[in-house]
This record gives sequence, structure tokens and C-alpha cells, in this order.
Amino acid sequence: MRVLVTGAAGFIGSHLCERLLRDGHTVVGLDHFNAYYDPAQKERNVAHIAQVGGDRFHLLRVDLRDLPALRAAMPGVDAVVHLAAMAGVQPSIREPLVYEDINIRGTLHVLQAMREAGIQRLVFASSSSVYGNAQRVPFAEDEPVDRPISPYAATKKAGELLCYTWHHLHDISTICLRFFTVYGPRQRPDLAIAKFIRMIDDGEPIVLYGDGSSSRDYTFVLDTVDGIARALERTSQPGYAIYNIGHSEPISLRELVAHIETAVGKPAHIHWQPMQAGDVDRTWADLTRAHAALGYAPQMPIADGIAQQVAWYRDQTK
Ligand SMILES: NC(=O)c1ccc[n+]([C@@H]2O[C@H](COP(=O)([O-])OP(=O)(O)OC[C@H]3O[C@@H](n4cnc5c(N)ncnc54)[C@H](O)[C@@H]3O)[C@@H](O)[C@H]2O)c1
Repeated sequence: MRVLVTGAAGFIGSHLCERLLRDGHTVVGLDHFNAYYDPAQKERNVAHIAQVGGDRFHLLRVDLRDLPALRAAMPGVDAVVHLAAMAGVQPSIREPLVYEDINIRGTLHVLQAMREAGIQRLVFASSSSVYGNAQRVPFAEDEPVDRPISPYAATKKAGELLCYTWHHLHDISTICLRFFTVYGPRQRPDLAIAKFIRMIDDGEPIVLYGDGSSSRDYTFVLDTVDGIARALERTSQPGYAIYNIGHSEPISLRELVAHIETAVGKPAHIHWQPMQAGDVDRTWADLTRAHAALGYAPQMPIADGIAQQVAWYRDQTK
């Protein structure tokens, strides 16, 4: 297949492109290398993809908000994986309009350009953040998700809704995947594990919010990517579905820091601060549906995954 991946130069997108190329697909990677974090990291990611893909990888430096450019990317494409987004929770509270522009209007552009080009297969990157502070755990896909607690989460829920509408009106076979905190080599530098590895290694104090009991269902990036690849295959059948792509083993903040201390081989110096508005207390994926429908079964134990991320970090900073 010829697959268009938006957000191809980013953390998850670059690993996905490599996986799809290894599976024999042709990949059109679309990204505008925004400055949310150092674009040089994205350039390095793309260089890795190009090594794997050779002439089956085509890079388009396009902004989702440029509808004519997006339209021009579509001819010949069989399926789209839409990952490009503003992805941080806290920055979305400071800059909600940018999140609306890219995550909602940008998604609408993707859907419109797909419809015009007659493309019928879509995987959309949603997020566990749509569950907000849902009380019932683990989070199952049929849980009501009408209480997002950050602008970011609201834009992801809006994306799921828009995808449903375009599926309904235009028969686009669509799978929305709710990713649970993804980590591993190339992780976004604003995310906790990447930040803590760097700061603990440099001997800098780290700030922890709350009392250390908040937890996340950390998922290794190659497991996430396996879930995306399986969902993409599944879009050959018509329909609209939502699946959790997590690990289903929540880790508390205290446990996380202990894993990182072990992998880095240095102690953390911790400053405690109150919990921040917008951050959820816990995430925990129910994987029953993803396992049954996609055969998704994450493999990477947290200690091994963090060790791989630390090894990658050391390689980068050599
Ligand atoms: N990393 C996680 O833990 C996590 C969890 C849940 C959901 N997600 C979702 O997965 C997707 C990928 O996240 P990531 O962690 O790889 O983030 P990332 O920031 O590394 O990747 C996103 C990419 O999208 C590109 N992009 C942003 N706006 C664009 C625009 N207007 N036009 C073209 N390209 C644009 C960026 O340059 C970047 O390379 C996002 O949709 C995110 O919301 C991620």
C-alpha cells in the first residue's frame, strides 16, 4: 500500500514509518517540523526513516493547515495514518487556540482532502486523555468520555467525533486509537521520562507533582506502533471503531523514578509540588477490545523499555 503518515518526523510517526517500510509499504511522510521541540531531532528521525525506506519513502514538508498542499499529497494514497498534532497537555492550557487550529481544523483538512481524493482508509491518533478523571478502571472504550480536563483532551475527543461523521457520510473505514503515555527512543523531550533521564543524569533536581501516587500506563513505542500497523490492516474492512493502545500495567510516579534511577545509575533529587490542573490522576488501558479485534498484545516490560531509552539518550549525547 501507499500510506500517508502525518506527523512522520515526530516520535511515534518516525518509528511507524520505519515499521511500514519494513512491512513492504510505500510511505509518504508529511510533517512541517514545527518548533514545539528541537526540529533537529525530527531531522535526525527522518534521516533514519530514509535509510530504511530508500526510494519507497517520500517526505513532504507540509503544514496541515495548508489545505491545497494537503490535497496535492493525496493522489495515489491508499490509506492515511493521521498522527500530526500539538501533543502536550500543559501547553494546551496556555495556547488553546493553536491546539484548536492544528488538532481540530487540521484534522478536518485531512478528512476533507481524503474525501475529495476518494481515500477510504484512516487511522487517527487519539489519546487516553479523553478519559479525563474517569473513576472506573481500567478505562474501557465504552466509558463515557464527555469530561475532558484539558484543551488537548477536548481536541482529541473532537477529532474522534469528526472522524465518525466523515465515516458516516463518506464511508471512510476508520479506526481511532487511544494511545497511553508512549515512551522509548526518540521520545518527545517534554515528556516525563525523557526529562527525568536527562535531569537525573545531569544531577539536576526534578519536580514531581502530587504525592507520587499518580500513575500512567506507560507503553513502549514499538508496541504502540504494532497497534497502529494492526489497525491499519484492519481498515481493509468497513466500519468505525475505537481501541485503547496501552500496556495495561499502570506505574506510579515513584516507581517510574526508581526505574529511571536504576537505568541511569544515579539518584534523583526530588522537589515536590502540588498536582497541576489539567493532569489526570491515573491512566490504565483495558485492552480486551484491542486484543480481540486486532490481536494487539504489548510486549515490552517497563524496566527494559526504560533501559533502551537511556541507551538511546546516551548515544545522542555522545
Ligand atoms: N506520545 C504520547 O505519549 C502520546 C499519547 C497519546 C496520544 N499521542 C498522539 O500521538 C500523535 C503523535 O505524538 P508524538 O508523541 O509522536 O508527538 P510529536 O510531537 O513527536 O509528533 C507530532 C509531529 O506532528 C508534526 N506536526 C504538528 N503540527 C503539524 C502541522 N500543523 N502540520 C504538519 N505537521 C505537524 C510535528 O512537527 C511533529 O513532528 C499525536 O497526535 C499525539 O497527540 C501521543
